Amino acid sequence: MTGWGVVGAGWVARDHVLPAVAADPAAHLVGVHDRDPAALDGLAPVYADLDDLLAAPGLDAVYVATPNHAHAPVVERVAAAGLPVLCEKPLAHDVPTAKEMVAATEGLLAGTAFDQRFHPAHEVIAQRVAAGDLGVVTTVRIVYGCWLPPDWRTPVGGRDNWRVDPARAGGGAMIDLAPHGLDLTGCVLGEDVVDLVALTATRVHAYAPGVDDTAVLAGRTASGTLLSHHVSFSTADPLPRRRLEVVGTRAQLVAEDTLGQDPGGTLTRIDATTGAAAPVAFDTGTGPFTRQLAAFGAAVRGEAPWPYPLHRDLALHTLLMEAACP
Ligand SMILES: NC(=O)c1ccc[n+]([C@@H]2O[C@H](COP(=O)([O-])OP(=O)(O)OC[C@H]3O[C@@H](n4cnc5c(N)ncnc54)[C@H](O)[C@@H]3O)[C@@H](O)[C@H]2O)c1
Repeated sequence: MTGWGVVGAGWVARDHVLPAVAADPAAHLVGVHDRDPAALDGLAPVYADLDDLLAAPGLDAVYVATPNHAHAPVVERVAAAGLPVLCEKPLAHDVPTAKEMVAATEGLLAGTAFDQRFHPAHEVIAQRVAAGDLGVVTTVRIVYGCWLPPDWRTPVGGRDNWRVDPARAGGGAMIDLAPHGLDLTGCVLGEDVVDLVALTATRVHAYAPGVDDTAVLAGRTASGTLLSHHVSFSTADPLPRRRLEVVGTRAQLVAEDTLGQDPGGTLTRIDATTGAAAPVAFDTGTGPFTRQLAAFGAAVRGEAPWPYPLHRDLALHTLLMEAACP
């Protein structure tokens, strides 16, 4: 059994992490800490002091779900306690802090919580790419957006909109959404983007100066597969806004409504010779957070490797943070 502690009891913790702990028969919750006592309402067991949680009997691993700027201070305290840590994306609000955080976890089991790696549809895509079903993969095209006005609040716990505060988020739509697509591209292709440029814009929302509500990114892997990635906080939620296409010479795979936190969506294979489109089966009942939590827990218990080193996540974080064109 893996005993979990959760730090930061907001939206992602309440709606996704705590249900994933509850769903894993090999996991149990040791406790939850938040610096805001109100955020702990209705949860149990709770710890008002982080050090008390870190010293709790049976604690094997910690999930960090604080806002971006508050990842590093918490991760560094978890690492000082010698515990494995799974921390939300992005690593940090800037590159120097991310580097310090990764250095602090040296020698420990540590990961970034890129849940979308674990969506069953995305794992089927990775398997088909590796098996050659798509032929030569030329391009990955990703659209990932939502509607996030300046006064937006997280569905639970949100006191203010830290996501568009550059001091706490590190940017706007691009730093919030594009880390997923960059990570996912590497996961489905089996090789990472190594060149990246980005154009950002603030077209709709009156955020603080310099905070983007839209970005278009262009990337390239070492072998020459291209990435085209559009992220936005300015796409109305009823519009099509979650789409992943992997374009190959023999076939194209199209995943719709799989990007995000929930199970389900659709996966379609379009044959390059006939043009015929056929649904591709995957497990639509299991969510990415559930699978991620179980996978990290298995690594904590030494039953399976954690194949996503934090140094790789840091390289992609650095690439992203340095990608924006003036
Ligand atoms: N993987 C995903 O799909 C996904 C989805 C949503 C959010 N996230 C990430 O999860 C993190 C949290 O996002 P959210 O939407 O849950 O935010 P939120 O604002 O809903 O919750 C954050 C919580 O952290 C607490 N907190 C802040 N600083 C703290 C500190 N130093 N110590 C302890 N608690 C602290 C706040 O009081 C709040 O309760 C962010 O990094 C975000 O990027 C990831």
